[in-house]
Amino acid sequence: GVDGHPDFMSKEIAEQPDVAARIVDRLAPHVLDGSLWADLALPRFDRVTVIGCGTSLNAGRMIGGALSSLGRVPVRTLVASEAADAVMEPRTLVLALSQSGETADLLNAIERLDLSRSSLVAITNNEHSTLARQADSVLTCDAGPEIGVAATKTFVAQVITGVAAALSALVASERMLRSDAVRHSDELRLMPELLAHAIAVSHEVLPSIVAGVLDEPGFLFLGQGTGVVLAAEGALKLKELSYRWAEHQPAGELKHGPLALVDRGTPVLVIDSGDPRIDRSIAEVDARGGRIVRIGGPGSTVPVVGLGRPAGPMAGARRWGPLEAVVPLQIFARDLALALGRDVDKPRNLAKSVTVE
Ligand code: M6R
Repeated sequence: GVDGHPDFMSKEIAEQPDVAARIVDRLAPHVLDGSLWADLALPRFDRVTVIGCGTSLNAGRMIGGALSSLGRVPVRTLVASEAADAVMEPRTLVLALSQSGETADLLNAIERLDLSRSSLVAITNNEHSTLARQADSVLTCDAGPEIGVAATKTFVAQVITGVAAALSALVASERMLRSDAVRHSDELRLMPELLAHAIAVSHEVLPSIVAGVLDEPGFLFLGQGTGVVLAAEGALKLKELSYRWAEHQPAGELKHGPLALVDRGTPVLVIDSGDPRIDRSIAEVDARGGRIVRIGGPGSTVPVVGLGRPAGPMAGARRWGPLEAVVPLQIFARDLALALGRDVDKPRNLAKSVTVE
């Protein structure tokens, strides 16, 4: 065991509220006056390109979602291994995300892209990494060492760090009203509590759900908005750890093809971020006998979203979340993998840091 945990992944999942608290305590006081961003001393930007691989790319998509939905900033996302031919426009802010800062696909993409008229900000858990050295500015995630191959606490750390920086940048460039920024930074401050609730609830309700799907060959993850990114992250965790097929889709795409996958008993995990259109997708799955695991607010199968959060004006304000919904996805993948006898810290065929292209 590791510090009373059966594996590193268990320990790293459990650390998430503390990791979040540490980051929020450090960054939140510098969000609303724009100084978190201003201190990076970067030129003004007109657009943002997010780049990374795997879970880091998903973290970048969450941050990109905040920049475009809250600040109307044009955001493009590049998968690092496919980025070589991307056209870089002037005054682009490049957000490069990597836990290790040593991922070859990302480092090579940065080398090949023409970044002469862009500024490069690294969001990494290793401030001494190659990526950090190449960047104009570095935002350190401060998650502590992550040993499990599956990224968990570093995802949460990257998103919170990046969203704090994004809010600060939007305030500094007057793309966001201060009153809105206050609401969103309050939301950030709630993350430690929301993550802790999500861990407790997940451990309570997921074991029986996982026990019922052990023989299922495939899993579908649905979401909307940044919920699609969380669906992607849930599917990635599940593939990586359990070796079962998983795919993610925007809920609205279901009827355009993927619904044909759904049969009696097919597990469909739905990230319900509060958009009522999700009900129609759920009804479509239900009508085919799919097994719906709804991750959302009160009344959901896994009621983790927004728990402990004051009701009222905050509702509907969370256009970059719900970040806490990643917790049940991590725990679902780990529980399933363990039940199938997998090594959750060292999944087959994978390395923690991928230093080859
Ligand atoms: O060190 P990096 O964040 O650059 O690594 C990127 C991916 O290889 C990594 O996130 C991978 O997808 C994780 N093992 C997923 O859990």
